[in-house]
Amino acid sequence: MNKKVTKAIIPAAGLGTRFLPATKAMPKEMLPILNKPTIEYIVEEAVASGIEDILIVTGKGKRAIEDHFDNNFELEDNLLKKGKFELLKEVRASSRVEIHYIRQKEPKGLGHAIWTARKFIGNEPFAVLLGDDIVRSKEPCLKQLIGKYDEMQSSIIGVQTVPGDQTYRYGIIEPTQNDGRCYEVRNFIEKPVPGTAPSNLAIMGRYILTPEIFRYLEKQEIGAGGEVQLTDAIQKLNKVQNVYAYDFEGKRYDVGEMIGFIRTTIEFALENEEYKSEVEEIMIELLKIKSMVKIL
Ligand code: G1P
Repeated sequence: MNKKVTKAIIPAAGLGTRFLPATKAMPKEMLPILNKPTIEYIVEEAVASGIEDILIVTGKGKRAIEDHFDNNFELEDNLLKKGKFELLKEVRASSRVEIHYIRQKEPKGLGHAIWTARKFIGNEPFAVLLGDDIVRSKEPCLKQLIGKYDEMQSSIIGVQTVPGDQTYRYGIIEPTQNDGRCYEVRNFIEKPVPGTAPSNLAIMGRYILTPEIFRYLEKQEIGAGGEVQLTDAIQKLNKVQNVYAYDFEGKRYDVGEMIGFIRTTIEFALENEEYKSEVEEIMIELLKIKSMVKIL
């Protein structure tokens, strides 16, 4: 009998060192793009893709994430009394999904974080969404992958093309052949040494995996960066059951590093009806000042 993908894991135990000191006492997943924490965009994508249960893997100093997705009666009561109904709707929306939590007790890497979720997953296919990439698309990114899983009944990894000089930052696939957007894969390589990547197709933080992946994660072998890598377990799984890569449709925003984060904030503001025109004016003004300084 075919099994449906209804569970998702969102790893959120990382230290967020790229955003220090902001992340000294606040989880990086709570840094906002406009008025929403980045992790809420990820949860929204999972829900819009038909996921029913989400497990967030947290660690030390991540309580604010649990509070965010919980009810806040004082705040709701206050907004209600002041007649701020639109805000009330948004505040309530973030506490409507069924979210579970587990703590990763040691920072041993992404592969280890996923492994801590094995009991929650049991013997079902499941999704993984990484918080460093927000994807905007007509059909939610994860939904595209679930659709492909339903058709193939095999693990599907979301990929997109990156510039050649960026491959060292990602898990990269070595494709053999493709049928439209779907690739058969010979090798999955985590963070290849610059100049050695077999393609420009990079793993983009969205995965549908069969539960057999836990057999390989259980070994907890250390990979790139001294961490247990999910990509290495996928490489091993691919030797015994096909793991496909799917070049999903959609624009991806890298909110895991500072320049990507700034760019995402600007782009989202320029697309937001409320802020659009004022932000455009600010940008024109700033660019004018900059070019005047250059002329002087
Ligand atoms: C992780 C994965 C990598 C993937 C990347 C996408 O790396 O290990 O395969 O390409 O996310 O953002 P990280 O960025 O956590 O080092």
